[in-house]
Amino acid sequence: MAASAKTLICEKANPTEEWTIVLPRRGRQRRYLPKVITPKQQEEQSWAPVDLETNPERELKLMQKMQLCIQKLENSPFFHTLLDQILTPENLDRFFKVLGEELNMQMVIYGLGSIESFEPPRLQLSLAIVLKRKFSWIGDIEVFDPIISLTEARVLEALGCSVLLVNEHGRRQALRPMLFFMPHCEAELYDNLLHANWRVDLLNRIVLFGNSFEAYEQQMSMFRNSTVADSRKHILASRRLTKELGINTSSDDFFRAFHGSGWHFFTVGHEADLHPVGV
Ligand SMILES: C[S@@+](CC[C@H](N)C(=O)[O-])C[C@H]1O[C@@H](n2cnc3c(N)ncnc32)[C@H](O)[C@@H]1O
Repeated sequence: MAASAKTLICEKANPTEEWTIVLPRRGRQRRYLPKVITPKQQEEQSWAPVDLETNPERELKLMQKMQLCIQKLENSPFFHTLLDQILTPENLDRFFKVLGEELNMQMVIYGLGSIESFEPPRLQLSLAIVLKRKFSWIGDIEVFDPIISLTEARVLEALGCSVLLVNEHGRRQALRPMLFFMPHCEAELYDNLLHANWRVDLLNRIVLFGNSFEAYEQQMSMFRNSTVADSRKHILASRRLTKELGINTSSDDFFRAFHGSGWHFFTVGHEADLHPVGV
């Protein structure tokens, strides 16, 4: 997937009117139902929310919850520690290297979860939004999770994010600098992303926020199962090319949302560093 332009368009001519949702043609015909997908079946699929029940009160309630969450995060020692970490000259330089000549890096959020049902996804989205507000070098935010409801999609759009209408299975290629924000995703989704970007120029354009790859490597000794190793082969192969910066989650309030998470930067010098990963 190069760059997806298919996003959910929520039209509201007048703020007092009800939202109208404009679905793509294919989305109208076919609903996406989450199911177990084998790698061979992982073609891009058009997607539309399964939960289409919504009303202005429900959207307002969720928006208020999000606003409280954004405030909570912004005022927290957790966030200030995270900012201090980003703002060290060494780490800023890592972001700017990925940026290169471009003015900003687009953010793609995969695997957010339900912001209506759970606080960790709300805190994770709050962090993404606050980082974008803080740093002019973070560009537009696109979001995809197959479980997003229509209410959540509308609130995400009202918060300035675009909801993708295609399940890319994490396979977006970094044709320009990209920040992939993938809090607590399944290993397969990180592996898909790395697989789709297994080229020097592409990996060097990526900043990834997500689970610790070092932890995945350490866990491997526990798995005798070759299917598990196979589904993580790009994660494991990337370890020697990755600089990982863990974030501090000592505060109880933020532990559930961010434990074991960190920033990943890829420093790939030559094509020769990228051995093909067995298929
Ligand atoms: C372990 S949950 C994490 C949810 C949330 N970020 C949290 O920390 O509680 C992984 C999420 O990935 C989502 N997911 C599964 N397949 C996906 C795909 N192809 N693209 C984006 N998200 C996906 C799931 O629906 C689920 O919400």
